[in-house]
Amino acid sequence: MEGERPEELLESAFPFLELMSRYRCAMMEVETKLRVLDEEFSMTYNRNPFETIKSRLKKPISIIDKMRRKGMPLSVENIERTLNDIAGVRVICSFPDDIYALAAMLVKQDDIKLIEKKDYIAHPKPNGYRSLHLIVEVPIFLSNCKKYMRVEVQFRTIAMDFWASLEHKLKYKKEIDHSEEIAQELEACAEIISSMDERMQEIRNRIERG
Ligand code: GTP
Ligand code: MG
Repeated sequence: MEGERPEELLESAFPFLELMSRYRCAMMEVETKLRVLDEEFSMTYNRNPFETIKSRLKKPISIIDKMRRKGMPLSVENIERTLNDIAGVRVICSFPDDIYALAAMLVKQDDIKLIEKKDYIAHPKPNGYRSLHLIVEVPIFLSNCKKYMRVEVQFRTIAMDFWASLEHKLKYKKEIDHSEEIAQELEACAEIISSMDERMQEIRNRIERG
């Protein structure tokens, strides 16, 4: 069978691999910015605004699937123009207030451009999903230029993450939509979890007030 030589194949893949590498750099930049804020917080206030931070790069197959769903022809330029979530950073905070404090501190940094904000905490999805989503652009400094890359940052509490992780598992176990009864049950669980977040936040407020 006649095919491309390995060198040719690698050469044609280079622009895509280069794009992915830039997203990886942007993701590292955002993660570092958040870790720096965490470090400063623990020095100044003796507490950490987040529990964990995780970064992930969207897999090529997921990129192809999403481009297809959006009806976009596959090209490196189109991928960069169309998708906001190739680089993703998830920040798991202890308390709801930490989410807004941390997000505000990130966004006000003068090299960060806020592209979009979706507040699913103030406005939960109908299924009960809660998180704060930001799309930001962060510059990465290459040998001869500066390039702004988009990164999706999701902020949620441990409680919100607990719900989202389990809901995700339940959703992808079966490729069918949940029945109305199950959807209502999931939403009810999200409400309980949310009121726990509020109570824990209130406990902290009381302790801080002394
Ligand atoms: P996507 O095409 O999924 O990226 O949706 P979108 O572009 O409208 O963005 P949105 O901000 O709604 O969601 C982006 C990401 O948030 C998803 O890829 C998930 O990681 C997470 N997410 C959104 N909705 C849900 C949900 O109902 N359940 C769970 N578990 N995660 C969700
Ligand atoms: Mg997404």
